[in-house]
Amino acid sequence: MSQYTEEINKRRTFAIVSHPDAGKTTLTEKLLLFGGAIHVAGAVKSNKIKKTATSDWMEIEKQRGISVATSVMAFDYSGYKINILDTPGHQDFAEDTFRTLTAVDSVIIVIDTAKGVEAQTRKLMEVCRMRKTPVIVFVNKMDRDGKDPFDLLDEIEEELHINVRPLSWPIDMGQKFKGVYNIFEEKLDLYTPSKQLVTESVEFKDIQSPELENYIEPALAQKLREDIELIEGVYPEFDVNTYLNGDIAPVFFGSALNNFGVKELLDCFVRIAPSPRPVQAIERVVDPEEDAFTGFVFKIHANMDPNHRSCIAFVKICSGRFERNANYKHVRFNKQMRFSSPTAFMAQKKETVDEAFAGDIIGLPDTGNFKIGDTLTSGENLHFKGLPSFSPEMFKYIENADPLKAKQLNKGIEQLMDEGVAQLFTNQFNGRKIIGTVGQLQFEVIQYRLLHEYGAQCKWEPISLYKACWIESDNKEMLENFKKRKSQYMALDKEGRDVYLADSGYVLTMAQQDFPDIKFHFTSEF
Ligand code: G4P
Repeated sequence: MSQYTEEINKRRTFAIVSHPDAGKTTLTEKLLLFGGAIHVAGAVKSNKIKKTATSDWMEIEKQRGISVATSVMAFDYSGYKINILDTPGHQDFAEDTFRTLTAVDSVIIVIDTAKGVEAQTRKLMEVCRMRKTPVIVFVNKMDRDGKDPFDLLDEIEEELHINVRPLSWPIDMGQKFKGVYNIFEEKLDLYTPSKQLVTESVEFKDIQSPELENYIEPALAQKLREDIELIEGVYPEFDVNTYLNGDIAPVFFGSALNNFGVKELLDCFVRIAPSPRPVQAIERVVDPEEDAFTGFVFKIHANMDPNHRSCIAFVKICSGRFERNANYKHVRFNKQMRFSSPTAFMAQKKETVDEAFAGDIIGLPDTGNFKIGDTLTSGENLHFKGLPSFSPEMFKYIENADPLKAKQLNKGIEQLMDEGVAQLFTNQFNGRKIIGTVGQLQFEVIQYRLLHEYGAQCKWEPISLYKACWIESDNKEMLENFKKRKSQYMALDKEGRDVYLADSGYVLTMAQQDFPDIKFHFTSEF
Protein backbone atom coordinates (compact mmCIF):
# COMPACT_ATOMS: atom_id res chain seq x y z
CA MET A 1 0.00 0.00 0.00
CA SER A 2 1.18 3.48 -0.73
CA GLN A 3 -0.35 6.92 -0.47
CA TYR A 4 -1.31 6.57 -4.13
CA THR A 5 -2.92 3.13 -4.01
CA GLU A 6 -6.45 4.43 -4.28
CA GLU A 7 -5.63 6.59 -7.30
CA ILE A 8 -3.78 3.76 -9.00
CA ASN A 9 -6.48 1.16 -8.40
CA LYS A 10 -9.13 3.19 -10.11
CA ARG A 11 -7.15 3.77 -13.29
CA ARG A 12 -7.78 1.78 -16.46
CA THR A 13 -5.45 2.76 -19.28
CA PHE A 14 -6.08 0.92 -22.51
CA ALA A 15 -6.26 1.10 -26.29
CA ILE A 16 -8.93 -0.04 -28.70
CA VAL A 17 -7.38 -1.56 -31.80
CA SER A 18 -8.79 -3.03 -34.97
CA HIS A 19 -8.29 -3.46 -38.64
CA PRO A 20 -9.61 -0.30 -40.34
CA ASP A 21 -13.41 -0.28 -40.57
CA ALA A 22 -14.13 -2.93 -37.96
CA GLY A 23 -15.69 -0.28 -35.73
CA LYS A 24 -13.00 1.12 -33.44
CA THR A 25 -14.13 4.74 -33.81
CA THR A 26 -17.77 3.84 -33.28
CA LEU A 27 -17.00 1.82 -30.18
CA THR A 28 -14.76 4.56 -28.76
CA GLU A 29 -17.52 7.05 -29.27
CA LYS A 30 -20.08 4.91 -27.49
CA LEU A 31 -17.74 4.44 -24.54
CA LEU A 32 -17.27 8.20 -24.35
CA LEU A 33 -21.03 8.66 -24.36
CA PHE A 34 -21.33 6.32 -21.38
CA GLY A 35 -18.62 8.24 -19.59
CA GLY A 36 -20.41 11.51 -20.24
CA ALA A 37 -17.27 12.74 -21.98
CA ILE A 38 -19.29 13.61 -25.08
CA HIS A 39 -23.00 14.11 -25.46
CA VAL A 40 -23.71 13.57 -29.11
CA ALA A 41 -22.84 10.78 -31.46
CA GLY A 42 -20.48 11.80 -34.25
CA ALA A 43 -18.14 13.84 -32.07
CA VAL A 44 -15.22 11.50 -32.56
CA LYS A 45 -15.60 11.20 -36.29
CA SER A 46 -13.26 14.11 -37.05
CA ASN A 47 -10.57 11.84 -35.73
CA LYS A 48 -11.10 9.28 -38.40
CA ILE A 49 -8.94 9.26 -41.44
CA LYS A 50 -11.29 8.64 -44.28
CA LYS A 51 -10.39 6.05 -46.87
CA THR A 52 -10.93 8.55 -49.66
CA ALA A 53 -8.11 10.67 -48.29
CA THR A 54 -5.43 8.02 -48.40
CA SER A 55 -3.52 9.59 -51.27
CA ASP A 56 -3.75 13.05 -49.77
CA TRP A 57 -1.44 12.88 -46.81
CA MET A 58 -1.62 16.62 -46.03
CA GLU A 59 -5.27 16.04 -45.35
CA ILE A 60 -4.31 13.11 -43.18
CA GLU A 61 -1.82 15.20 -41.27
CA LYS A 62 -4.44 17.85 -40.77
CA GLN A 63 -6.71 15.23 -39.36
CA ARG A 64 -3.89 13.89 -37.25
CA GLY A 65 -3.44 17.43 -35.98
CA ILE A 66 -7.05 17.51 -34.93
CA SER A 67 -6.57 14.18 -33.31
CA VAL A 68 -3.97 15.48 -30.82
CA ALA A 69 -6.85 16.35 -28.54
CA THR A 70 -8.30 12.90 -28.97
CA SER A 71 -4.99 11.05 -28.71
CA VAL A 72 -5.91 10.32 -25.14
CA MET A 73 -9.49 10.37 -24.00
CA ALA A 74 -9.96 10.37 -20.27
CA PHE A 75 -13.24 10.12 -18.44
CA ASP A 76 -14.73 8.94 -15.18
CA TYR A 77 -17.07 6.01 -15.13
CA SER A 78 -18.57 4.29 -12.12
CA GLY A 79 -15.76 5.34 -9.80
CA TYR A 80 -13.02 4.48 -12.27
CA LYS A 81 -10.74 6.84 -14.18
CA ILE A 82 -10.56 5.60 -17.73
CA ASN A 83 -7.82 6.57 -20.18
CA ILE A 84 -8.40 5.45 -23.75
CA LEU A 85 -5.35 5.86 -25.97
CA ASP A 86 -6.27 6.41 -29.56
CA THR A 87 -4.30 4.73 -32.31
CA PRO A 88 -4.17 5.89 -35.92
CA GLY A 89 -6.46 3.96 -38.18
CA HIS A 90 -4.29 4.30 -41.26
CA GLN A 91 -1.94 1.36 -41.57
CA ASP A 92 0.94 3.48 -42.82
CA PHE A 93 1.14 4.77 -39.27
CA ALA A 94 1.23 1.28 -37.75
CA GLU A 95 4.47 2.04 -35.89
CA ASP A 96 2.61 4.74 -33.95
CA THR A 97 0.11 2.14 -32.91
CA PHE A 98 2.78 -0.32 -31.82
CA ARG A 99 4.39 2.31 -29.64
CA THR A 100 1.08 3.33 -28.14
CA LEU A 101 0.63 -0.29 -27.10
CA THR A 102 3.71 0.05 -24.89
CA ALA A 103 1.87 2.66 -22.84
CA VAL A 104 -1.33 0.73 -22.15
CA ASP A 105 -2.16 -1.78 -19.46
CA SER A 106 -4.70 -3.64 -21.56
CA VAL A 107 -6.30 -3.74 -24.99
CA ILE A 108 -9.73 -4.22 -26.54
CA ILE A 109 -9.59 -5.74 -30.01
CA VAL A 110 -12.57 -5.09 -32.29
CA ILE A 111 -13.34 -7.71 -34.92
CA ASP A 112 -15.92 -7.42 -37.68
CA THR A 113 -18.15 -10.51 -37.47
CA ALA A 114 -18.33 -10.83 -41.25
CA LYS A 115 -14.64 -10.29 -41.96
CA GLY A 116 -13.14 -12.14 -39.02
CA VAL A 117 -9.45 -11.73 -38.24
CA GLU A 118 -7.77 -9.31 -40.66
CA ALA A 119 -4.12 -8.49 -41.37
CA GLN A 120 -3.76 -5.48 -39.11
CA THR A 121 -5.38 -7.28 -36.18
CA ARG A 122 -2.90 -10.11 -36.52
CA LYS A 123 0.04 -7.76 -36.29
CA LEU A 124 -1.33 -5.81 -33.36
CA MET A 125 -2.03 -9.02 -31.48
CA GLU A 126 1.59 -10.05 -32.04
CA VAL A 127 2.66 -6.98 -30.11
CA CYS A 128 0.19 -7.72 -27.31
CA ARG A 129 1.46 -11.28 -27.11
CA MET A 130 5.07 -10.15 -26.94
CA ARG A 131 4.24 -7.89 -24.04
CA LYS A 132 1.71 -10.23 -22.44
CA THR A 133 -0.89 -7.47 -22.53
CA PRO A 134 -4.34 -8.63 -21.40
CA VAL A 135 -6.79 -8.56 -24.30
CA ILE A 136 -10.59 -8.50 -24.53
CA VAL A 137 -12.18 -9.20 -27.92
CA PHE A 138 -15.34 -7.41 -29.04
CA VAL A 139 -17.01 -9.03 -32.03
CA ASN A 140 -18.81 -6.15 -33.72
CA LYS A 141 -21.59 -5.69 -36.26
CA MET A 142 -23.79 -8.52 -35.03
CA ASP A 143 -26.69 -6.70 -36.69
CA ARG A 144 -25.19 -7.92 -39.95
CA ASP A 145 -24.85 -11.45 -41.24
CA GLY A 146 -21.47 -12.81 -40.29
CA LYS A 147 -19.55 -15.96 -39.61
CA ASP A 148 -20.83 -18.68 -37.33
CA PRO A 149 -19.72 -17.59 -33.84
CA PHE A 150 -18.04 -20.92 -33.03
CA ASP A 151 -16.11 -20.80 -36.30
CA LEU A 152 -15.14 -17.24 -35.53
CA LEU A 153 -13.79 -18.19 -32.11
CA ASP A 154 -11.74 -20.98 -33.72
CA GLU A 155 -10.44 -18.48 -36.24
CA ILE A 156 -9.46 -16.03 -33.49
CA GLU A 157 -7.64 -18.77 -31.59
CA GLU A 158 -5.80 -19.97 -34.66
CA GLU A 159 -5.00 -16.67 -36.26
CA LEU A 160 -4.23 -14.66 -33.15
CA HIS A 161 -2.59 -17.52 -31.22
CA ILE A 162 -4.56 -16.86 -28.08
CA ASN A 163 -7.09 -18.92 -26.17
CA VAL A 164 -10.53 -17.39 -25.96
CA ARG A 165 -13.46 -17.60 -23.57
CA PRO A 166 -16.83 -16.19 -24.62
CA LEU A 167 -18.43 -14.10 -21.87
CA SER A 168 -21.47 -13.30 -23.95
CA TRP A 169 -23.18 -15.27 -26.67
CA PRO A 170 -25.22 -14.06 -29.65
CA ILE A 171 -28.77 -15.16 -30.32
CA ASP A 172 -28.95 -15.33 -34.08
CA MET A 173 -27.47 -12.54 -36.19
CA GLY A 174 -28.08 -10.05 -38.99
CA GLN A 175 -31.70 -9.03 -39.48
CA LYS A 176 -32.78 -11.76 -37.11
CA PHE A 177 -30.37 -10.76 -34.35
CA LYS A 178 -32.20 -11.05 -31.02
CA GLY A 179 -29.50 -10.09 -28.57
CA VAL A 180 -26.95 -11.88 -26.42
CA TYR A 181 -26.88 -14.02 -23.36
CA ASN A 182 -24.46 -12.29 -21.00
CA ILE A 183 -22.59 -15.22 -19.49
CA PHE A 184 -20.49 -12.98 -17.24
CA GLU A 185 -23.48 -11.39 -15.52
CA GLU A 186 -26.02 -14.17 -16.20
CA LYS A 187 -28.39 -11.84 -17.97
CA LEU A 188 -30.38 -11.93 -21.13
CA ASP A 189 -29.78 -8.76 -23.13
CA LEU A 190 -32.40 -8.23 -25.77
CA TYR A 191 -31.83 -6.19 -28.86
CA THR A 192 -34.05 -3.69 -30.59
CA PRO A 193 -32.69 -2.62 -33.92
CA SER A 194 -32.73 1.09 -33.34
CA LYS A 195 -29.75 3.31 -32.74
CA GLN A 196 -29.10 4.70 -29.25
CA LEU A 197 -31.73 2.51 -27.68
CA VAL A 198 -30.94 1.22 -24.24
CA THR A 199 -30.78 -2.54 -24.12
CA GLU A 200 -33.53 -4.43 -22.37
CA SER A 201 -31.77 -6.56 -19.83
CA VAL A 202 -33.30 -9.42 -17.88
CA GLU A 203 -31.66 -11.26 -15.03
CA PHE A 204 -31.47 -14.88 -16.16
CA LYS A 205 -29.45 -17.27 -14.08
CA ASP A 206 -30.82 -20.52 -15.41
CA ILE A 207 -31.31 -20.64 -19.12
CA GLN A 208 -32.79 -24.13 -18.77
CA SER A 209 -35.87 -22.47 -17.31
CA PRO A 210 -38.88 -22.52 -19.65
CA GLU A 211 -39.24 -18.79 -19.03
CA LEU A 212 -36.62 -18.27 -21.70
CA GLU A 213 -39.33 -18.97 -24.24
CA ASN A 214 -41.20 -15.90 -23.01
CA TYR A 215 -38.46 -13.77 -24.47
CA ILE A 216 -37.24 -15.61 -27.54
CA GLU A 217 -38.89 -18.08 -29.84
CA PRO A 218 -38.57 -21.77 -28.92
CA ALA A 219 -36.14 -22.75 -31.67
CA LEU A 220 -33.74 -19.98 -30.71
CA ALA A 221 -34.14 -20.72 -26.99
CA GLN A 222 -33.24 -24.35 -27.63
CA LYS A 223 -30.27 -23.38 -29.78
CA LEU A 224 -29.03 -20.98 -27.09
CA ARG A 225 -29.22 -23.71 -24.45
CA GLU A 226 -27.23 -26.07 -26.66
CA ASP A 227 -24.67 -23.40 -27.50
CA ILE A 228 -24.12 -22.47 -23.86
CA GLU A 229 -23.80 -26.14 -22.94
CA LEU A 230 -21.19 -26.55 -25.63
CA ILE A 231 -19.32 -23.46 -24.45
CA GLU A 232 -19.25 -24.69 -20.87
CA GLY A 233 -17.99 -28.05 -22.12
CA VAL A 234 -15.35 -26.80 -24.53
CA TYR A 235 -13.94 -23.65 -22.96
CA PRO A 236 -12.37 -23.51 -19.52
CA GLU A 237 -14.18 -21.60 -16.83
CA PHE A 238 -13.31 -17.92 -16.96
CA ASP A 239 -10.47 -17.06 -14.63
CA VAL A 240 -9.45 -13.42 -14.24
CA ASN A 241 -5.82 -14.27 -13.58
CA THR A 242 -5.40 -16.16 -16.84
CA TYR A 243 -6.77 -13.09 -18.59
CA LEU A 244 -4.46 -10.77 -16.64
CA ASN A 245 -1.49 -12.96 -17.59
CA GLY A 246 -2.41 -12.55 -21.24
CA ASP A 247 -3.19 -16.26 -21.63
CA ILE A 248 -6.88 -16.05 -22.37
CA ALA A 249 -9.02 -13.42 -24.09
CA PRO A 250 -12.65 -12.99 -22.99
CA VAL A 251 -14.96 -12.41 -25.96
CA PHE A 252 -18.06 -10.20 -26.15
CA PHE A 253 -20.53 -9.89 -29.03
CA GLY A 254 -22.46 -6.75 -29.92
CA SER A 255 -23.07 -3.91 -32.27
CA ALA A 256 -21.24 -0.68 -31.58
CA LEU A 257 -23.33 1.29 -34.05
CA ASN A 258 -26.51 0.26 -32.26
CA ASN A 259 -24.93 0.75 -28.88
CA PHE A 260 -25.66 -2.86 -28.15
CA GLY A 261 -23.42 -4.85 -25.83
CA VAL A 262 -21.19 -1.84 -25.26
CA LYS A 263 -22.23 -1.05 -21.69
CA GLU A 264 -21.88 -4.74 -20.82
CA LEU A 265 -18.39 -4.70 -22.27
CA LEU A 266 -17.50 -1.57 -20.31
CA ASP A 267 -18.95 -2.88 -17.05
CA CYS A 268 -16.99 -6.10 -17.31
CA PHE A 269 -13.91 -4.24 -18.50
CA VAL A 270 -13.68 -1.93 -15.47
CA ARG A 271 -14.07 -4.91 -13.17
CA ILE A 272 -11.51 -7.25 -14.70
CA ALA A 273 -9.04 -5.05 -16.62
CA PRO A 274 -5.78 -4.32 -14.83
CA SER A 275 -4.92 -1.06 -13.13
CA PRO A 276 -1.38 0.16 -13.93
CA ARG A 277 1.04 -2.71 -13.85
CA PRO A 278 4.70 -2.86 -12.87
CA VAL A 279 6.96 -1.74 -15.70
CA GLN A 280 10.30 -3.29 -16.58
CA ALA A 281 13.20 -0.85 -16.77
CA ILE A 282 16.66 -2.02 -17.77
CA GLU A 283 17.87 -1.53 -14.20
CA ARG A 284 14.89 -2.97 -12.31
CA VAL A 285 11.12 -3.43 -12.22
CA VAL A 286 9.28 -0.23 -11.31
CA ASP A 287 6.12 -0.67 -9.26
CA PRO A 288 3.31 1.84 -9.82
CA GLU A 289 2.91 2.24 -6.06
CA GLU A 290 6.42 3.61 -5.57
CA ASP A 291 6.45 7.15 -4.21
CA ALA A 292 9.04 8.52 -6.64
CA PHE A 293 7.81 9.71 -10.01
CA THR A 294 8.88 7.87 -13.17
CA GLY A 295 7.55 7.99 -16.73
CA PHE A 296 8.57 7.54 -20.35
CA VAL A 297 7.87 9.19 -23.69
CA PHE A 298 5.99 6.85 -26.03
CA LYS A 299 4.84 9.25 -28.67
CA ILE A 300 5.82 12.62 -30.07
CA HIS A 301 3.28 14.60 -31.97
CA ALA A 302 4.71 17.31 -34.19
CA ASN A 303 2.92 20.50 -34.89
CA MET A 304 2.61 20.79 -38.65
CA ASP A 305 2.65 24.59 -38.55
CA PRO A 306 6.11 25.55 -39.89
CA ASN A 307 6.07 28.81 -37.92
CA HIS A 308 5.98 27.07 -34.60
CA ARG A 309 8.25 24.07 -34.61
CA SER A 310 6.87 22.60 -31.45
CA CYS A 311 5.80 19.14 -30.46
CA ILE A 312 3.90 17.44 -27.72
CA ALA A 313 5.70 14.60 -26.01
CA PHE A 314 3.27 12.07 -24.57
CA VAL A 315 4.46 10.64 -21.28
CA LYS A 316 3.05 7.55 -19.61
CA ILE A 317 3.42 7.81 -15.85
CA CYS A 318 4.75 4.53 -14.46
CA SER A 319 4.96 5.37 -10.76
CA GLY A 320 4.45 8.11 -8.21
CA ARG A 321 2.86 11.46 -8.73
CA PHE A 322 3.70 14.02 -11.39
CA GLU A 323 3.48 17.64 -10.32
CA ARG A 324 3.40 20.76 -12.40
CA ASN A 325 6.50 22.94 -12.00
CA ALA A 326 8.44 20.30 -10.06
CA ASN A 327 11.95 19.36 -11.16
CA TYR A 328 12.40 16.06 -12.94
CA LYS A 329 15.43 14.38 -14.39
CA HIS A 330 15.67 13.90 -18.14
CA VAL A 331 17.80 10.78 -17.85
CA ARG A 332 19.36 10.79 -21.33
CA PHE A 333 20.52 14.40 -20.90
CA ASN A 334 21.28 13.98 -17.19
CA LYS A 335 19.54 17.30 -16.76
CA GLN A 336 16.77 18.68 -14.53
CA MET A 337 13.67 19.99 -16.29
CA ARG A 338 10.49 21.74 -15.13
CA PHE A 339 7.19 21.69 -16.90
CA SER A 340 4.89 24.63 -16.40
CA SER A 341 2.10 23.59 -18.73
CA PRO A 342 1.64 19.83 -18.76
CA THR A 343 -1.68 18.88 -20.31
CA ALA A 344 -4.20 16.18 -19.64
CA PHE A 345 -6.94 15.21 -21.99
CA MET A 346 -10.17 15.21 -20.05
CA ALA A 347 -13.42 14.99 -21.96
CA GLN A 348 -11.70 15.66 -25.28
CA LYS A 349 -10.30 18.96 -24.13
CA LYS A 350 -6.66 19.65 -23.52
CA GLU A 351 -6.22 21.30 -20.18
CA THR A 352 -3.33 22.13 -17.92
CA VAL A 353 -3.01 19.76 -14.98
CA ASP A 354 -1.36 20.22 -11.62
CA GLU A 355 -0.88 16.56 -10.86
CA ALA A 356 -1.18 13.14 -12.43
CA PHE A 357 -0.65 9.57 -11.26
CA ALA A 358 0.62 6.22 -12.47
CA GLY A 359 -1.48 5.12 -15.43
CA ASP A 360 -2.15 8.66 -16.61
CA ILE A 361 -0.85 10.16 -19.81
CA ILE A 362 0.34 13.75 -19.84
CA GLY A 363 1.35 15.89 -22.78
CA LEU A 364 4.51 17.96 -22.40
CA PRO A 365 5.12 20.81 -24.86
CA ASP A 366 8.53 20.18 -26.36
CA THR A 367 10.93 21.95 -28.66
CA GLY A 368 13.14 19.02 -29.54
CA ASN A 369 14.32 17.80 -26.14
CA PHE A 370 12.60 14.47 -26.26
CA LYS A 371 12.85 11.37 -28.30
CA ILE A 372 10.78 8.25 -28.14
CA GLY A 373 11.75 6.07 -25.21
CA ASP A 374 13.16 8.92 -23.09
CA THR A 375 12.73 8.50 -19.35
CA LEU A 376 11.83 11.15 -16.77
CA THR A 377 12.35 10.44 -13.07
CA SER A 378 12.58 12.09 -9.67
CA GLY A 379 16.33 11.56 -9.83
CA GLU A 380 17.06 7.88 -10.40
CA ASN A 381 18.90 6.74 -13.49
CA LEU A 382 16.31 4.48 -15.11
CA HIS A 383 15.74 3.41 -18.69
CA PHE A 384 12.42 1.88 -19.60
CA LYS A 385 12.49 -1.00 -22.03
CA GLY A 386 9.95 -2.22 -24.44
CA LEU A 387 9.70 0.19 -27.32
CA PRO A 388 10.52 -2.20 -30.10
CA SER A 389 11.09 -1.20 -33.70
CA PHE A 390 9.73 -3.62 -36.25
CA SER A 391 11.40 -4.53 -39.47
CA PRO A 392 10.10 -1.95 -41.95
CA GLU A 393 8.38 -3.07 -45.11
CA MET A 394 9.61 -0.46 -47.56
CA PHE A 395 13.11 0.91 -48.02
CA LYS A 396 14.64 3.80 -49.93
CA TYR A 397 18.00 5.53 -50.06
CA ILE A 398 17.69 9.11 -48.92
CA GLU A 399 19.99 11.53 -50.77
CA ASN A 400 20.69 15.20 -50.44
CA ALA A 401 19.20 17.26 -53.29
CA ASP A 402 20.64 20.60 -52.16
CA PRO A 403 24.39 20.43 -51.44
CA LEU A 404 24.29 23.69 -49.49
CA LYS A 405 21.88 22.28 -46.97
CA ALA A 406 23.60 19.07 -45.95
CA LYS A 407 23.69 20.06 -42.28
CA GLN A 408 19.99 20.87 -42.19
CA LEU A 409 19.20 17.60 -43.89
CA ASN A 410 21.14 15.56 -41.37
CA LYS A 411 19.59 17.39 -38.45
CA GLY A 412 16.12 16.97 -39.93
CA ILE A 413 16.60 13.28 -40.53
CA GLU A 414 17.88 12.78 -37.03
CA GLN A 415 15.00 14.63 -35.38
CA LEU A 416 12.32 12.99 -37.47
CA MET A 417 13.75 9.58 -36.61
CA ASP A 418 13.77 10.53 -32.89
CA GLU A 419 10.10 11.34 -33.27
CA GLY A 420 9.63 7.85 -34.65
CA VAL A 421 8.41 8.86 -38.10
CA ALA A 422 10.46 6.08 -39.73
CA GLN A 423 13.66 4.11 -39.20
CA LEU A 424 17.16 4.98 -40.33
CA PHE A 425 19.80 2.44 -41.28
CA THR A 426 23.30 3.43 -42.30
CA ASN A 427 24.89 1.03 -44.73
CA GLN A 428 28.34 0.14 -43.42
CA PHE A 429 29.74 -0.63 -46.84
CA ASN A 430 29.02 2.62 -48.67
CA GLY A 431 27.88 4.90 -45.83
CA ARG A 432 24.58 5.62 -47.55
CA LYS A 433 21.49 6.31 -45.48
CA ILE A 434 18.46 4.09 -45.91
CA ILE A 435 15.02 4.98 -44.60
CA GLY A 436 12.66 2.13 -43.75
CA THR A 437 8.91 2.64 -43.38
CA VAL A 438 5.73 0.63 -43.18
CA GLY A 439 4.02 2.62 -45.93
CA GLN A 440 4.57 4.87 -48.91
CA LEU A 441 2.90 7.77 -47.13
CA GLN A 442 5.75 8.16 -44.68
CA PHE A 443 8.25 8.90 -47.47
CA GLU A 444 6.02 11.77 -48.56
CA VAL A 445 5.66 13.01 -44.99
CA ILE A 446 9.43 12.98 -44.49
CA GLN A 447 10.19 14.81 -47.73
CA TYR A 448 7.59 17.48 -47.01
CA ARG A 449 8.63 18.01 -43.43
CA LEU A 450 12.35 18.16 -44.26
CA LEU A 451 11.60 20.93 -46.71
CA HIS A 452 9.14 22.90 -44.62
CA GLU A 453 10.63 22.52 -41.18
CA TYR A 454 14.35 22.28 -41.95
CA GLY A 455 14.67 23.91 -45.35
CA ALA A 456 16.35 20.75 -46.63
CA GLN A 457 15.66 18.94 -49.85
CA CYS A 458 15.91 15.23 -50.19
CA LYS A 459 15.42 12.79 -53.00
CA TRP A 460 14.63 9.12 -52.86
CA GLU A 461 16.48 6.40 -54.71
CA PRO A 462 15.21 2.88 -55.01
CA ILE A 463 16.74 -0.01 -53.18
CA SER A 464 15.33 -3.47 -53.32
CA LEU A 465 15.26 -4.98 -49.85
CA TYR A 466 13.10 -7.63 -48.29
CA LYS A 467 13.63 -7.21 -44.56
CA ALA A 468 15.88 -5.67 -41.95
CA CYS A 469 17.02 -8.20 -39.33
CA TRP A 470 18.69 -7.38 -36.08
CA ILE A 471 21.38 -10.04 -35.61
CA GLU A 472 23.15 -11.48 -32.58
CA SER A 473 25.17 -14.55 -31.73
CA ASP A 474 27.23 -16.07 -28.93
CA ASN A 475 29.48 -17.44 -31.61
CA LYS A 476 31.72 -14.42 -32.19
CA GLU A 477 33.67 -16.04 -34.98
CA MET A 478 30.57 -16.95 -36.94
CA LEU A 479 29.17 -13.46 -36.42
CA GLU A 480 32.35 -11.86 -37.77
CA ASN A 481 32.38 -14.27 -40.70
CA PHE A 482 28.80 -13.42 -41.48
CA LYS A 483 29.43 -9.69 -41.36
CA LYS A 484 32.42 -10.08 -43.65
CA ARG A 485 30.53 -12.24 -46.12
CA LYS A 486 27.50 -9.93 -46.13
CA SER A 487 29.46 -6.69 -45.79
CA GLN A 488 27.53 -5.00 -48.58
CA TYR A 489 24.29 -5.65 -46.71
CA MET A 490 25.36 -4.74 -43.20
CA ALA A 491 24.02 -1.58 -41.63
CA LEU A 492 23.70 0.08 -38.25
CA ASP A 493 20.38 1.27 -36.85
CA LYS A 494 20.21 4.62 -35.08
CA GLU A 495 21.21 3.03 -31.79
CA GLY A 496 24.29 1.53 -33.43
CA ARG A 497 23.05 -2.05 -33.47
CA ASP A 498 23.98 -4.47 -36.23
CA VAL A 499 21.30 -4.93 -38.84
CA TYR A 500 21.40 -7.28 -41.82
CA LEU A 501 19.46 -6.00 -44.81
CA ALA A 502 18.26 -9.09 -46.63
CA ASP A 503 17.41 -8.47 -50.26
CA SER A 504 15.11 -11.46 -50.67
CA GLY A 505 13.31 -14.11 -48.66
CA TYR A 506 15.41 -16.76 -50.35
CA VAL A 507 18.70 -15.14 -49.45
CA LEU A 508 17.53 -14.76 -45.87
CA THR A 509 16.58 -18.43 -45.61
CA MET A 510 19.95 -19.43 -47.03
CA ALA A 511 21.73 -17.15 -44.55
CA GLN A 512 19.77 -18.71 -41.68
CA GLN A 513 20.82 -22.17 -42.90
CA ASP A 514 24.47 -21.31 -43.46
CA PHE A 515 24.88 -19.50 -40.15
CA PRO A 516 22.93 -21.60 -37.65
CA ASP A 517 24.42 -19.91 -34.56
CA ILE A 518 23.19 -16.49 -35.60
CA LYS A 519 19.80 -15.31 -34.46
CA PHE A 520 17.86 -13.16 -36.92
CA HIS A 521 15.29 -10.91 -35.23
CA PHE A 522 12.54 -9.00 -36.95
CA THR A 523 12.05 -6.59 -34.08
CA SER A 524 14.73 -4.53 -32.37
CA GLU A 525 13.96 -6.05 -28.97
CA PHE A 526 14.52 -9.68 -28.27
P1 G4P B 1 -12.78 2.04 -37.64
O1 G4P B 1 -12.64 3.18 -36.68
O2 G4P B 1 -12.42 0.72 -37.04
O3 G4P B 1 -12.13 2.26 -38.95
O4 G4P B 1 -14.36 1.86 -37.96
P2 G4P B 1 -15.58 2.84 -37.75
O5 G4P B 1 -15.99 2.89 -36.33
O6 G4P B 1 -15.36 4.12 -38.44
O7 G4P B 1 -16.68 1.99 -38.51
C1 G4P B 1 -16.56 1.63 -39.87
C2 G4P B 1 -17.92 1.52 -40.49
O8 G4P B 1 -18.65 0.46 -39.86
C3 G4P B 1 -18.76 2.78 -40.32
O9 G4P B 1 -19.58 2.91 -41.46
C4 G4P B 1 -19.62 2.45 -39.12
O10 G4P B 1 -20.82 3.19 -39.10
C5 G4P B 1 -19.88 0.97 -39.35
N1 G4P B 1 -20.21 0.24 -38.10
C6 G4P B 1 -19.59 0.32 -36.88
N2 G4P B 1 -20.19 -0.49 -36.00
C7 G4P B 1 -21.21 -1.11 -36.64
C8 G4P B 1 -22.20 -2.06 -36.24
O11 G4P B 1 -22.28 -2.51 -35.11
N3 G4P B 1 -23.07 -2.45 -37.21
C9 G4P B 1 -23.03 -1.98 -38.50
N4 G4P B 1 -23.94 -2.43 -39.35
N5 G4P B 1 -22.11 -1.08 -38.90
C10 G4P B 1 -21.21 -0.64 -37.99
P3 G4P B 1 -19.20 3.88 -42.64
O12 G4P B 1 -20.34 3.79 -43.60
O13 G4P B 1 -17.83 3.59 -43.16
O14 G4P B 1 -19.12 5.27 -41.93
P4 G4P B 1 -20.28 6.26 -41.58
O15 G4P B 1 -20.58 6.93 -42.86
O16 G4P B 1 -21.42 5.43 -41.05
O17 G4P B 1 -19.71 7.14 -40.55
